[in-house]
Amino acid sequence: MTAVPDIRIAPSILSADFAALGDAVRGIDAAGADYIHVDVMDGHYVPNITIGPSVVKALRPHSKKIFDVHLMISPVDLFLEDFAKAGADIITVHPEAGPHVHRTIQTIKGLGKKAGLALNPATPPDMIANVIDMLDLVLVMTVNPGFGGQSFIPLLDKIRAVKTMIDGVDHPVDLQVDGGITPETAPLAIEAGANVLVAGTAVFKDGPDGYAANIKALREARA
Ligand code: DX5
Ligand code: ZN
Repeated sequence: MTAVPDIRIAPSILSADFAALGDAVRGIDAAGADYIHVDVMDGHYVPNITIGPSVVKALRPHSKKIFDVHLMISPVDLFLEDFAKAGADIITVHPEAGPHVHRTIQTIKGLGKKAGLALNPATPPDMIANVIDMLDLVLVMTVNPGFGGQSFIPLLDKIRAVKTMIDGVDHPVDLQVDGGITPETAPLAIEAGANVLVAGTAVFKDGPDGYAANIKALREARA
């Protein structure tokens, strides 16, 4: 029997009630979330605007769980220190969001934070090849970034290719999948090698009373 990986669930507060984000963070923490996934969008790198470092700072006291901050902003380098100081634990960036990805990752590590690199659907897995030694997380986007509630793009061969690359380095690297994750698509991502599932709609769709059951359904989803 194939060993079942330790699956971690990262609810995206993009799908929460923005008028009650503190409640949402406390709610998903109590409901068993492993990471708090924070989608930061600037209306430039992606066609949507969400929140900035001051909101991350305001939310930080509401949970001791890992704050997994996904930056969809360009330029990104200017804001890394602000998000680090605001309380991010993992800072994930897109390679298209700055001219010197290696330097960006160096900066994140220099701030004492875990570093992630996010691959858009059209971005090839080889993009991580020359920086994987510095990475703590690779995020495979299974939708185009910018919005919650989109349909899963089945980039399973790409997830497998990233998994093979991760297995070739001698430190742990999370393989996170983000976009369109549901109890139906989660098993596909897990089977391909993902160990961290980001989910917005699938966690928040039923309101606070549904958080625990929805997180459990994702964690236990198997083909
Ligand atoms: C998209 C974001 C995702 C998004 C996922 O740009 O990075 O984290 O919130 O939302 P769902 O789970 O609804 O696809
Ligand atoms: Zn995200």
